[in-house]
Amino acid sequence: PTIFVITPTYSRFVQKAELTRLSQTFLHVPQLHWVLVEDSPHKTPLVAGLLADSGLAYTHLHTATPKERKLQDGDPSWLKPRGAEQRNEGLRWLREDRRAPQGADSQQGVVYFADDDNTYSIQLFQEMRSTQRVSVWPVGLVGGMRYERPVVEGGKVVRFHTGWRPSRPFPLDMAGFAVSLKTVLANPDACFDGNAPMGFLESSFLQGVVTMEELEPRADNCSKVLVWHTRTEKPKMKREDALQAQGLGSDNAVEV
Ligand code: UGA
Ligand code: MN
Repeated sequence: PTIFVITPTYSRFVQKAELTRLSQTFLHVPQLHWVLVEDSPHKTPLVAGLLADSGLAYTHLHTATPKERKLQDGDPSWLKPRGAEQRNEGLRWLREDRRAPQGADSQQGVVYFADDDNTYSIQLFQEMRSTQRVSVWPVGLVGGMRYERPVVEGGKVVRFHTGWRPSRPFPLDMAGFAVSLKTVLANPDACFDGNAPMGFLESSFLQGVVTMEELEPRADNCSKVLVWHTRTEKPKMKREDALQAQGLGSDNAVEV
């Protein structure tokens, strides 16, 4: 089955670097379709060009996060969920595209929500390809922990190892689960709640489609870390700004 990877992305200095790293990881994965959704009122040439040159099968979408739901400069990053509208747009496209069966296989697939800044082992994609409903695994360097993970006993998920509010319905990071396309299509209303309180975005989607007992542990009964919640430092532009003030800034025609 094809793995549909839904990635929200937004314009910033490191965007092309993040998307380059991500796309070159995906090139190592067979049967992957990248659904890249820009948080923007229009598709940007930078992203369009990167996709066209990527060598990947892809769909390029966009939807802007409404202003009242978007983080403002100076807001702490946890105040509002990020990427919710974009993931929902990816789901909308997928449901529309796969609705009319093009063939027996068109409803076979796996959906994974991959943020543009994390680090993914190509082995992770082998693990998720057999997802029946929802598969789960550990995520490294997340939630103020070395890792968070579902705890597996007798082949079943019985609780979650997390440092914060373990009572959440699904205390999992976005990077820690995949859903079968069949499940996405069978639950046409399942989506991400852009107004979810901090830490409840993943639960807002998963609650509608699966129970804890049904979760399918992967990565050796959730004993291996194959994805890391890395975050990229914001580059400083002190010198650039100083030179620009003298009319000597870098050439805007050079895409970075
Ligand atoms: C954590 C989780 O790993 C995310 O999956 C979750 O969406 C987020 O918290 C949240 O609480 O909303 P974190 O590293 O803090 O992630 O979030 P980012 O990586 O900054 O953003 C997640 C995704 O949304 C990224 O793919 C990013 O490119 C995208 N994004 C971010 C937008 O599309 N628009 C924005 O304004 C900001
Ligand atoms: Mn991130």
